[in-house]
Amino acid sequence: MAPSAARAEPDAAALYQQHCAACHGAQRTGGMGPALLPESLERLRPTEAQRTIAQGRTATQMPAFGAQLAADEIAALVRWIHQPVQPAPRWDEADIRASRTAPAPTAALSSRPVWSADPMNLFVVVEGGDHHVSLVDGDRFELIARFPSRYALHGGPKFTPEGRFVFFGSRDGWITKYDLWNLRVVAEVRAGLNMRNIAVSSDGRHVMAANYLPRTLALFDADLNLQRSWAATTRDGRTASRVSAVYDAAPRRSFVVAMKDIPELWEISYDPQAAPIHDGLVHDHALGEAIATPGHLGVRRTLLDEPLDDFFFDPAYRHALGATRPKTEAGAATAQVVNLDIRRKIADLPLAGMPHLGSGITWAWKGTTVLASPNLKGQGVDVIDMATWKPVATIPTPGPGFFMRSHAASPYAWTDSMMSPTARDTLTVIDKATLQPVATVREPGRTLAHIEFTRDGRHALASVWEDDGALIVYDARTLQEVKRLPMRKPVGKYNVWNKITREEGTSH
Ligand code: HEC
Repeated sequence: MAPSAARAEPDAAALYQQHCAACHGAQRTGGMGPALLPESLERLRPTEAQRTIAQGRTATQMPAFGAQLAADEIAALVRWIHQPVQPAPRWDEADIRASRTAPAPTAALSSRPVWSADPMNLFVVVEGGDHHVSLVDGDRFELIARFPSRYALHGGPKFTPEGRFVFFGSRDGWITKYDLWNLRVVAEVRAGLNMRNIAVSSDGRHVMAANYLPRTLALFDADLNLQRSWAATTRDGRTASRVSAVYDAAPRRSFVVAMKDIPELWEISYDPQAAPIHDGLVHDHALGEAIATPGHLGVRRTLLDEPLDDFFFDPAYRHALGATRPKTEAGAATAQVVNLDIRRKIADLPLAGMPHLGSGITWAWKGTTVLASPNLKGQGVDVIDMATWKPVATIPTPGPGFFMRSHAASPYAWTDSMMSPTARDTLTVIDKATLQPVATVREPGRTLAHIEFTRDGRHALASVWEDDGALIVYDARTLQEVKRLPMRKPVGKYNVWNKITREEGTSH
């Protein structure tokens, strides 16, 4: 066959508009189906995308196209959905406001739980397998309710201070406010097209959303009415950044924000009495740029050498401890301590591999406070003295892990090795006094991860992190299994009391 007669490359744009746009949106920003943007598909391997398109997804609305589309057409569609949309889709304040719905006004609802269990010992379990949320009674370990969530919840759900309402953030930018006592969605809004996580202020009056797309932060009141938004850019407005994470810093009455692409850490105070911000460097005075701006809801920037990825706080919320991603595949990650008051880096952390500081926890040890964090690449858990920022121990584990948890009432800290191909089925139980591993808990051949304690610390709950998974309840002292509830890939579980009191064994 002459080369000129070769079949032309399939027109992916046309195929998309014909077969996919009705559900995934003309701009690929989602509709009845999820958004299909490079940012959204980061974790979906091309082979898995191809299989999804050819075979569909059982028990969902995603149809199979294997009979209608040729293999090269499907391959072209997969390449197409991994390319950025040109021009970039917009999502401005008017779009955010127009997306809000409020199906159940709070005033019409009961002010007591409509179910009987301790509302403070409730577990909210996010099931990623089929996009549902289960509520589990933390005393009897029985299911109270199960309801559908938005597609792909991202980051932990966040509670109001009295524990009645929970906010969920989804990959595609939806924030859902849910009334746990009435089992009802109260309000929803789409904060962005691709969102990383949300934070709720300690007074329960604000919700902040961290977006990758567009590159913005968006602030809402407790009923999800937009209050304002910020472009995530350097002060001169020249460089825009994806926002990697936002967390509430309760004692500071502020949100602290990590940026993916610019070397800045932001703090935005929700305290009406916040001191004014004197931005800019000394030499800017001559240019008149150092004029104070209001501290309340103003951006206080800490300039860094490199962008800080995920981070967590010391118990006093004076420091943010964060990791910097390696610049190359072979490069080393670094970790740093940023003092939020003097607004600069004060120490490097001696951590090898790729510390997952977002899951770090702290506890009292020999008259000081230590920090322990799992490691996404390295073997073992590094323990650091928070007074000197020097290493104290490396606790051996069978492989790299993702989560770590403890409870003030428990002598043990638990961690997983879910990033390890050979030890993903093993949890390591660490004695917090001796800093030694004392036991392992296994679920042979499965993936066992994400631990959370009951309110009293007497039970530890872990996930069989698979589609036909389960929630396993262990006695936190004897490490014996007490009960198991089947669940569809329970990616996270959150105890209301431990979250609203910021219990010392939990990360944010
Ligand atoms: C009738 C509606 C509908 C149509 C038409 C449709 N989809 Fe989907 N699609 C969905 C739904 C709903 C899901 C989510 C399934 C789930 O819950 O896992 C989905 C999921 C997907 C996913 C997985 C996304 C992820 O984040 O894992 C891909 C990829 C995808 N669709 C591609 C396509 C392509 C390409 C077309 C056109 C050839 C198409 N879809 C047509 C409804 C649809």
